[in-house]
Amino acid sequence: MINTICVIGAGTMGSGIAQVAAQNGFYTLLFDINSEVLDKAKLSLQKNLLYLFDKQKITAAEKENIFNRIKFINDTNDCIADVFIEAIVEKVAAKVAIFNQLAEINHSEVIFATNTSSLSVSDIQAKVIHPQRVVGMHFFNPAPVMKLVEVVKGNQTAYEAAQTVYELCKQLNKTPVLCKDAPGFIVNRVARHYYLEAMKLVEQGIASFETVDEIMEATGFKMGPFKLMDLIGMDVNLAVSQSMYNAFDKAERFTPSAIQIDKVAKGELGKKTGKGFYQY
Ligand code: NAI
Repeated sequence: MINTICVIGAGTMGSGIAQVAAQNGFYTLLFDINSEVLDKAKLSLQKNLLYLFDKQKITAAEKENIFNRIKFINDTNDCIADVFIEAIVEKVAAKVAIFNQLAEINHSEVIFATNTSSLSVSDIQAKVIHPQRVVGMHFFNPAPVMKLVEVVKGNQTAYEAAQTVYELCKQLNKTPVLCKDAPGFIVNRVARHYYLEAMKLVEQGIASFETVDEIMEATGFKMGPFKLMDLIGMDVNLAVSQSMYNAFDKAERFTPSAIQIDKVAKGELGKKTGKGFYQY
């Protein structure tokens, strides 16, 4: 029985996932090591709930109840839950470290879900204390809006753990899809070229980024690649490019773009820093 969900990392994805959990009735903990990020997440959650209220999707009472179901925490010792959904930096070592820390203070059935976009779930499992309870749970951005969740079974994931996460997705009003632990899973494998080819067009001076966005949107894509990269975060997007490039033995088609490397070096990470390709 899942009562409490603890989301680790209150950035772009974590704050959205916490909203989803609370909106669907779960007692939710949102943990981050950075208290400024937690304050920002609190404000953004309040803004999102106010928007839903204004659009008459939730009542005033629901708005209050949802917000009150979320506890914002920055002490690991308060991270006691039935399911953890990790949304921290895209680095195996960091994800392994937090899972092992949490395993020591939580009950023996707790599930460790990782929202990794591109790391191998099996690689994360290889170094954790309870590999059978590690499952990939890949949400899409923005988490409160996007229905799809890729549920990824690593080499050592127990059938029951994957099933629990799959059912949890349904309780969260999402559409889960089981997929294999392959680089980029399904969506990022396909979508990588949406970003990389778009950046190539700009690098080669064939079109400006604004033009590429305009054309892709005119052809029916919801968001052009550059707007989407700004939403995702350039650091996250670069990490995914790099990890897929490595996973595919440095295949030319997955080569990270100099443009994204430069943006990250300049700290122009997109919406979250106020500037990416566009100004916010
Ligand atoms: P972000 O940079 O917005 O947030 C990450 C947060 O984790 C930061 O607030 C940071 O302070 C916190 N953090 C770092 N180490 C921590 C630790 N040990 N304990 C607690 N908090 C810690 O990153 P974002 O975009 O939310 O991505 C997080 C994860 O979600 C990554 O694995 C990424 O690949 C994945 N993801 C990202 C998507 C996106 O569109 N941005 C989409 C789907 C998955």
